Amino acid sequence: MARGKKIYEGKAKTLYEGPEPGTIIQYFKDDATAFNAEKKAVIEGKGVLNNMLSEYFMTGLAQVGVPTHFLKRLNMREQLVRACEIVPLEVIVRNYAAGSMAKRLGIEEGTQLPRPIVEYCYKDDALGDPLVTEEHIAAFGWASQQDMDDILSLALRVNDFLAGVMYGVGIKLVDFKIEIGRVYDGDFQRLIVADEISPDSCRLWDMKTGEKLDKDVFRRDLGSLTHAYTEVATRLGVMPKNNPQPGKPTLIN
Ligand code: TMP
Repeated sequence: MARGKKIYEGKAKTLYEGPEPGTIIQYFKDDATAFNAEKKAVIEGKGVLNNMLSEYFMTGLAQVGVPTHFLKRLNMREQLVRACEIVPLEVIVRNYAAGSMAKRLGIEEGTQLPRPIVEYCYKDDALGDPLVTEEHIAAFGWASQQDMDDILSLALRVNDFLAGVMYGVGIKLVDFKIEIGRVYDGDFQRLIVADEISPDSCRLWDMKTGEKLDKDVFRRDLGSLTHAYTEVATRLGVMPKNNPQPGKPTLIN
């Protein structure tokens, strides 16, 4: 499919105009960054894995009635998505303490939380995506109260779905981040899950061994990121079990 003009280049993806108005082609790069791009690497095969894993999660979400931007996968690195206005928030759902929350509140990593906790960060790289409250969101007009009710409900539905899918393959969903898009159907506005859902944006721990199968492998230098993501994809049946070349995932249909 012919790509249109480049619209935006992010740290892990590039967006191009899609073939029809209201569509976008999302290209998954092999670039990995952490700590607001202070740490960088190119990890061969990461883009392919995230493209396929994000397709898998977004398709599953649609099947259980959670609206997403995903339309179809085009090839190994590209997917066609619905154009939307991104709400400038990172919506984080946590089931176990880890990462910045464990540090901020002095809770040992891996402690189960009494219930899922939703946090919001303002999407601004220059500020390092600071944590904000619903008060900031309402006062600065980033989202309305009705939007926030819908975002909370979407976030918890995604959490239930993802946690269940992961549980089924022996993986604990520690936490994840999603982004929300605004679309207009005539005068009517709706919120949908946008961006990507992949091991770049989740914390995934093997239930038996505690092995990390997400981007913390890169952030904390714990080994091969491709190996970790391939493990997730293989368990979910997104990748064949005996991938001949771990760095070069093959496509199954
Ligand atoms: P944190 O503990 O570093 O705040 O991360 C919480 C979750 O959000 C974790 O699953 C990783 C994900 N995340 C992103 O997807 N993008 C980011 O820029 C950051 C900081 C975290």
